[in-house]
Amino acid sequence: MLLFSSKKELIGHLATLKNDATSVGLVPTMGALHKGHLSLVRKAISENEVVVVSIFVNPTQFDNKDDLKKYPVTLDSDLEYLKSISEELIIFAPEVTELYSNNISSKDYKFDGLDTTMEGKFRANHFLGVATVVEKLFLIVKPHKAYFGEKDFQQLLIIKKLVEKTKMPIEIIGCPIVREPNGLAMSSRNERLPKELRDKAAVIYETLLSAKHLFGMKSADKVMNWVKNKFDKQSEFDLEYINIAEQETLKPVKRKQQKTKYRAFIAVYANGVRLIDNLALN
Ligand code: PAF
Repeated sequence: MLLFSSKKELIGHLATLKNDATSVGLVPTMGALHKGHLSLVRKAISENEVVVVSIFVNPTQFDNKDDLKKYPVTLDSDLEYLKSISEELIIFAPEVTELYSNNISSKDYKFDGLDTTMEGKFRANHFLGVATVVEKLFLIVKPHKAYFGEKDFQQLLIIKKLVEKTKMPIEIIGCPIVREPNGLAMSSRNERLPKELRDKAAVIYETLLSAKHLFGMKSADKVMNWVKNKFDKQSEFDLEYINIAEQETLKPVKRKQQKTKYRAFIAVYANGVRLIDNLALN
């Protein structure tokens, strides 16, 4: 397994491997790897000859500097973890200055409203930071395919929009959410939950499943109100938002249409740890 921290060296190495027929897959991560990431890496390996995994805690996507400070950095164990899947992986783990030089700021993008709701509303400029770093990684690695988890479903839509707007010839592959045995969506943040609360956080997925059931009979507004009431009674969890929206555009549901796909999105605080999840409703 090769580890690069210099983009020039990575580009040089990739040039020795690639010809027009070599397919390159990229799995961008911020490290603190868990089974969710591994499922992305496995999928990338199954579909490409060369797979690059980037490990980079991107400062521009954190609106809350405390959250950035607390973000776990576990490079050594991440490398061991990746090695256990394949010795052939190429790892890119740059320093901040390598990607941003002295200008640690986000570019401005227009995402047709995808970035102004939910995560975009509660985490100022988050998606500009995500898009900035992902575009940088795409320009360095020039992958044919890039892999993102559906846990960050809004991010997945935004990356698809980024590729569409910048006309980069990259296929964006969304991969299903991997869950802990109790249903909690896998996330690096779960490690920050005390064991008892981590068990109880099963309520998030259970609520989404109930919402899916109710959505078959009731309007989106009624289902969202039901979720709010349910969380009002959960003293250990603070609901930040529940949103039922059109899956492709994130527009609110006006009148349910048979052919339109809908998804429920939720963000909850547990002991100061922000947890997100989502579920397809039809
Ligand atoms: O999903 C993440 O881990 C990050 O947002 C990403 C895509 C690696 C960009 O920093």
